[in-house]
Amino acid sequence: MIGRLNHVAIAVRDLAAATAVYKDSLGATMTEPTAQPEHGVTVVFVTLPNTKIEFLEPLGENSPIAKFLEKNADGGIHHICYEVDDIIAARDRLKAQGARVLGDGNPKIGAHGKPVLFLHPKDFLGTLTELEQA
Ligand code: CO
Repeated sequence: MIGRLNHVAIAVRDLAAATAVYKDSLGATMTEPTAQPEHGVTVVFVTLPNTKIEFLEPLGENSPIAKFLEKNADGGIHHICYEVDDIIAARDRLKAQGARVLGDGNPKIGAHGKPVLFLHPKDFLGTLTELEQA
């Protein structure tokens, strides 16, 4: 069911510092920061030939990554995102198997303007897993 790896997301406290590490040390190509108030994060993408890395910095009072950064002061891998051909079919199949879909269970528009869903880490090897409509 899952297709390409769309991105790996890393939560960071300081987007500018994180961007400098990847630019200066790793020679990475980065996008400009984009605020996503509806997701409580500001995002920068590292563009790679075969996939992307997403840096997430908390935005606003109730950022969903605030707790993660309390536990992981240096930042860390927050989630992975796979593409699926039909996000509603994927959701229905997973729910029928007992997997927990976060939020109200309906896709939200994600960082790339496409519908996304998040699956509970306890159902997927301790890893928060995002599905994005391909
Ligand atoms: Co993501």
